Amino acid sequence: MKIPMSSPDLTDADRQAVIDVINTPNLSMGQRILDFEQIFCQQTGRKHAIGVNSGTAGLHLCVRAAGIGPGDLVITTPFSFVSSSNVLLFENAVPVFVDVDPCTGNIDPELVADAARNIEKYLPRRFDYGSRYGRKTPPTRPSAQRGQLKAILPVDVFGQPADMDPINVIAREHGLTVIEDSCEALGAEYKGRPAGTLGDYGVFAFYPNKQITTGEGGMVVTDDDQAADFIRSLRNQGRAVGDTWLQHTHLGYNYRLDEMSAALGMAQMRRLDELLAKREQVAAWYEARLSEIPGVEVPIVESYTTRMSWFVYVVRFDARIDRDALAKRLEEMDVPARPYFLPIHLQPYMVERFGWREDDFPVTNDLGRRGLALPFSGVMTEEQVEYVCRSIREALSAA
Ligand SMILES: Cc1ncc(COP(=O)(O)O)c(C=O)c1O
Repeated sequence: MKIPMSSPDLTDADRQAVIDVINTPNLSMGQRILDFEQIFCQQTGRKHAIGVNSGTAGLHLCVRAAGIGPGDLVITTPFSFVSSSNVLLFENAVPVFVDVDPCTGNIDPELVADAARNIEKYLPRRFDYGSRYGRKTPPTRPSAQRGQLKAILPVDVFGQPADMDPINVIAREHGLTVIEDSCEALGAEYKGRPAGTLGDYGVFAFYPNKQITTGEGGMVVTDDDQAADFIRSLRNQGRAVGDTWLQHTHLGYNYRLDEMSAALGMAQMRRLDELLAKREQVAAWYEARLSEIPGVEVPIVESYTTRMSWFVYVVRFDARIDRDALAKRLEEMDVPARPYFLPIHLQPYMVERFGWREDDFPVTNDLGRRGLALPFSGVMTEEQVEYVCRSIREALSAA
């Protein structure tokens, strides 16, 4: 039995929505993107939703809107997909990492509070652009001219919201912007409130392994009118409200989401509850089987998570089990599995720039070493889940 790592969950109606657009002359900046944005306003209760062509693009625009620039400091998590930190590097800002909660893998609010009060303690060893990645000139702003602490960027890891109430208290105390990376958590709820609406900005992503997909795509949500105008402008080559097609008030990007993607997103959003319910069922099949296997820890859902939005299914193995050897053995049995996440602070370009070391964030490190993402999607059958779990049992007993 060959099981894919993930699969989109598409119906004929979803596919037809894309074909319908291709049969019109309007393939970008038409009615579909407006409809897709509108359904996000409804889903989240936020005043503005701005469609973009990836979650990374959305996060980057929030960083720009928050006025984060060279040398500025942003408290964030090393246990995430690289984008959440890369968007800071795009602006030559500095990710100030703090460690995470060992159960959820989400940023630890107590450490966020400590970092906001004692930022020196949390700064990287160095802040160096290096030359290996193309930049031959000296840093725009040497570390001696460090910028301000500007923001907190928590990530809703694996579909579970970060513990946002205490994070917002700290942000208010220190006058910081909160950018919630909800790229993995569309539809999740924190104490009854939707993920993505818990900070000043929220960002979702729609890569094919996500809860809904547009192929590539993302969405920013915010209540801030001015920021929304600015983000809309930067998404569209810096054209501000009132600019003509060849006038560009700002330095912008082409981060537009095309109409085919928006149409698919709209069709998928109409099915959001169904899509999440199917993923929840698959997670439940996994949990029932895996919680009985010694040495395997299944994901923990915190009591503040009033709705989990299953994005991936990541188990942790006992530290005495060789996770990588196990993953290899599973691969041989046609069960793909991936270490998830490999911590951001240990990525080569991060080490080169900031001098992070493995033991700087022990919890992140531990989760990074023991975690394995199993095949997961809403279209997985119980038989496939059974096969994966049986394979894990066999691989473990062979070891
Ligand atoms: C936590 C997190 N942030 C950001 C992103 C970036 O989204 P995209 O791949 O659409 O750029 C992802 C995507 O997987 C993610 O998991």
